[in-house]
Amino acid sequence: MRVALAVAQALLLVASLAGCGGGGGAPTAPPTPAPTPTPGPLYTEVAPLRDAAASAGRLVGAAVFSSRLGSDASYTGAAGRHFNYLTAEYEMKWDPIQRVQGQYDFSGGDAIVAFAESRGMRVKGHALVWHGATPRWVESLSPPELRIAFEDHIRTVAGHYRRRVMAWDVVNEAIDDSQAGLRSTVFSRGLGPDYVAEAFRLARKADPDAELIYNDYGGEGLNRKSNDFYNLVKDLRQRGLVDGVGLQMHISATSFPAVADIAANINRLADLGLQVNLSEMDVRVRDVSGDAAAKLQRQRQVYRDVVAACVAQPRCEAVTFWGFTDAHSWVDAAFGADDPLLLDEQYRAKPAFFGVEDALLGR
Ligand code: XIL
Repeated sequence: MRVALAVAQALLLVASLAGCGGGGGAPTAPPTPAPTPTPGPLYTEVAPLRDAAASAGRLVGAAVFSSRLGSDASYTGAAGRHFNYLTAEYEMKWDPIQRVQGQYDFSGGDAIVAFAESRGMRVKGHALVWHGATPRWVESLSPPELRIAFEDHIRTVAGHYRRRVMAWDVVNEAIDDSQAGLRSTVFSRGLGPDYVAEAFRLARKADPDAELIYNDYGGEGLNRKSNDFYNLVKDLRQRGLVDGVGLQMHISATSFPAVADIAANINRLADLGLQVNLSEMDVRVRDVSGDAAAKLQRQRQVYRDVVAACVAQPRCEAVTFWGFTDAHSWVDAAFGADDPLLLDEQYRAKPAFFGVEDALLGR
């Protein structure tokens, strides 16, 4: 949602409250409206981002919803024009695929894969094991029942998409936020800490050709969580179980890891022989000071610098954004109204779009 609009509404509210004070002083001049940034060119008027990515030998991706592909012309057009890698924002998670035990519904994921295939795009499956999208019935299983369901889900889903996805986020967000080790989830409690390695073993068996990825947030720079992340994937790598990592990169332009630390982290992961993805990038700007134009310029710089850190490392194979238009972003619900993506709500290219293009073209 537009930050400028939210700010304007807040100003109106403040102005009307101030007006309630009575008093009868001199009439105050109406506030000068903040300058509105000039709208950028429409998504059809800018060079495809996927061409810039291809010239850098990288994939540029977006998370999408199948329900909007086909039903919304601008959404479909922009997804098809600018990206060469797609990920399901929701539809390939456990809950939508197997909401009822034993009943698999692949319709949403299949539609995304078909759209990608028709446009020569690759697909990343997301995600086989994530506590955040696990249906209720999984929570009520006994440990032996959970093991059977876990094996069945991974085998069935990874088997279904074999040869149709290039990569899988096999385990998502397993590392704890505030203490060393794994997060306590239905999986760690019921199956023990080896569930992570077990998930990778099962995925490898079901789809031996897919690149198998461990994906998480909060470990983008250098800190305790990124050290745990590093140690986890180093161990999985030594056992031949993991091929790549995803650094989610849901960041705010006012607080994010130093770019030098992001680069150092990408490099140490690449040195393990892993492929690196920036896997869910979006950049919040609502706390950036200044007017709307200043926020958008700052956002451009952050996108450029972070994507450039990926482009500088040959094993950083892909940058995927968590959506592509400010009309549809999970950020509004999760963090409050914001404009975190590359196109505005009218599908016009924002400064952020050109920041990413600059990074891909080495500018
Ligand atoms: C989010 C989606 O964007 C939402 O639409 C959905 O309701 C919940 O999940 N980290 C992840 C993603 O790995 O799967 C999450 O996606 C965002 C945080």
